[in-house]
Amino acid sequence: MKDIHFNRSFMKADYDSWVNPTPSDQVKGMPAPPLQREPAPESALISLPTESRLAVKNNDFYEILTQRRSLRQYADTALTLEELSLLLEVTYRTQKIVGDNVASFRPSPSGGARHALEIYIAVQNVEGLDPGIYHYLPLSHQLECITKATDLEEQIIDSVYGQKFAGSAPAVFYWAAVPYRTEWRYGLKSHKVILLDLGHVAENLYLACEAIDAGACAIASYNQEKCDRLLKIDGEDEFVAYVMPVGKKRV
Ligand SMILES: Cc1cc2nc3c(=O)[nH]c(=O)nc-3n(C[C@H](O)[C@H](O)[C@H](O)COP(=O)(O)O)c2cc1C
Repeated sequence: MKDIHFNRSFMKADYDSWVNPTPSDQVKGMPAPPLQREPAPESALISLPTESRLAVKNNDFYEILTQRRSLRQYADTALTLEELSLLLEVTYRTQKIVGDNVASFRPSPSGGARHALEIYIAVQNVEGLDPGIYHYLPLSHQLECITKATDLEEQIIDSVYGQKFAGSAPAVFYWAAVPYRTEWRYGLKSHKVILLDLGHVAENLYLACEAIDAGACAIASYNQEKCDRLLKIDGEDEFVAYVMPVGKKRV
């Protein structure tokens, strides 16, 4: 029970004021960390289409909101690059930067405008992309190719404790947290804030999928080590916090 009470306290306001009332790095005058994980110098970069708005098929906002459902069965159809571009743009593309990386504005809201998430996509069937693991660069609206791989299905299923439907998705979004980006401003309060951010951005993805006759399914039941290893991230300063397979609806 002690652990339950301790964990519940994390959900409450002013968590840090009694756990560890130290000033944050921002208050101490430290420079803000980068707004995105920069690509490795040797990585191939792919510029995403800028006309992604053309991918929208359903503009009925009421219908999109009321018909959203988690989708676990996907058509064999590929996602187009325009569709993937739209999903990335309306969730996380950077629209404005304030000061020296002090804040950035994107389609989803974020506590302190810190946006402490990175998006990785396990691509199995997207037109114009070789299958593999990609990392989204929200400042330039590009993809960084992390690794090309044609055998992702089993690794994806394994990364979500055997949930088979995830392995059949043309694209699987892995949301990774880079906690320091928010800790810099909010210290121990950050971890609740980052999870709240994640709910907002995931809903944007759900709704955007509806607009392109696709669907997504949020997954919190994932294997931490296997997800982090699949994306080649360190699991400490950056680690997966949510997974969402995406695919077109079956007609
Ligand atoms: C935080 C969270 C975690 C979830 N984890 C899983 C999961 O691991 N596997 C799964 O199949 N669905 C998962 N779901 C989807 C829920 O089962 C689904 O949202 C719920 O049944 C309501 O259905 P709807 O999304 O179609 O309205 C999750 C949803 C949320 C919000």
